[in-house]
Amino acid sequence: MDRWRTIIEPFRIHSVEPVRMTTVDERETALRAAGWNLFNLHADDVLVDLLTDSGTGAMSRDQWAAVQHGDESYAGSPSWFAFLESVQVLFPYRHVIPTHQGRAAEKILFSVIGGPGKTIPNNTHFDTTRANVEFTGAEAVDLVIAEGRDPAALHPFKGNMDIEALDRLLAERAGSVPVVFVTITNNSGGGQPVSLENLRAVRAVCDRHGVPLFLDACRFAENAWFIKTREPGQADRSVPDIVREIASLADGMTMSAKKDGLANIGGWLALNDDDLARRCRDLLILTEGFPTYGGLAGRDLEAIAQGLREVVENDYLRYRIRSTAYLGEALDAAGVPVVKPFGGHAIYLDARALLSHIRPLEYPGQALAVALYREGGIRGCEIGTVMFGRHPDGSETPAAMDLVRLAIPRRTYTQSHVDYVIEVVRWVAERAASLRGFRIVDQPPALRHFTARFEPLD
Ligand SMILES: Cc1ncc(COP(=O)(O)O)c(C=O)c1O
Repeated sequence: MDRWRTIIEPFRIHSVEPVRMTTVDERETALRAAGWNLFNLHADDVLVDLLTDSGTGAMSRDQWAAVQHGDESYAGSPSWFAFLESVQVLFPYRHVIPTHQGRAAEKILFSVIGGPGKTIPNNTHFDTTRANVEFTGAEAVDLVIAEGRDPAALHPFKGNMDIEALDRLLAERAGSVPVVFVTITNNSGGGQPVSLENLRAVRAVCDRHGVPLFLDACRFAENAWFIKTREPGQADRSVPDIVREIASLADGMTMSAKKDGLANIGGWLALNDDDLARRCRDLLILTEGFPTYGGLAGRDLEAIAQGLREVVENDYLRYRIRSTAYLGEALDAAGVPVVKPFGGHAIYLDARALLSHIRPLEYPGQALAVALYREGGIRGCEIGTVMFGRHPDGSETPAAMDLVRLAIPRRTYTQSHVDYVIEVVRWVAERAASLRGFRIVDQPPALRHFTARFEPLD
């Protein structure tokens, strides 16, 4: 299986999408018009789009065929039952509540169980998760292990929860923690996996304190592959088997099918608690739709049902994890500071280390992301002080890390695209000393990274 070094994509290309070449001058103009915020660009002006792996993957022939089976009945559609079966094969929770994407599941759950005075711990909250917790007035606390906050620390499961810190928090805030969350893989902490051993320990702590455990399971298949390949005793297990054990350790989950659902839209909330499920469904009907479609078309439900079968295949996951590591290994060999070990869905450049002459409150991650776009048309995403530095009271402090995430859409780019990315990142890194920071000239009160406008500092 590992006889040959070349990673080949385990698919052939069946339908192509053109990408448009642009010049540095054209990209400079686009940047000015976008207020130096890469979210504001016209995607046609992007050559290799690594902004996110969310909803940007290529669907398979069989998913497109499944789309044709989409049944758009308002209630009880066969597509709903196909979706339900596929979800419950992997996550056999009693209640599955479909939503249009992951944050809708978060919004519904936290609206029911959050609120002022409540605390919700997580290894690391993703930005929408944190925002949805805080929107209810609750506090979102990150308790990842110390290695998970150090971009250079080597640990096979850097997404693990700090068990002692969790135990302390649950003891100190007894009665005010409605749920413990674990994000697999830990996106904001570098796409790092959580081990089965850690999940079992989290479960034990939750049981001791009588608090339910939920998974933010967006990248469950990638996490399961890391368990299979890194955790002692797991190598011979199938990925679906590992996923089912992960599911069995929790009481419920939120999910964005835009990641390991291999779909372009969709998500769900799943749980065992009947009363909580009833209250969540009541909100679902108010905000998303009837419980058998929840904001999705029947064709979307079919695409997800098929995607969930494909995402747990060994050939797919081996290619997925190896091809991401290929990008990381090349940048690391070139001396570009990157978060290690490499995560599943993205390579994270350590902008704070590379641009040490730019203070965190002048946004080194933003400076690096803008430079990669300007020079090579590559769109990455700042994950640092722009994304996490502003607090609900309006104050600002440096985030734990200033990273630029190069997220790899699933089954979308070939190795030559990745080789091009390597060349551009190296070129920019060699000239890092010439980059300047930014200041924010306009921003909303929450989730500012999506819409803020910037100006380069002199
Ligand atoms: C860990 C994690 N949780 C939640 C979400 C939110 O999902 P969605 O974008 O479908 O709302 C994301 C999206 O990137 C994520 O990575």
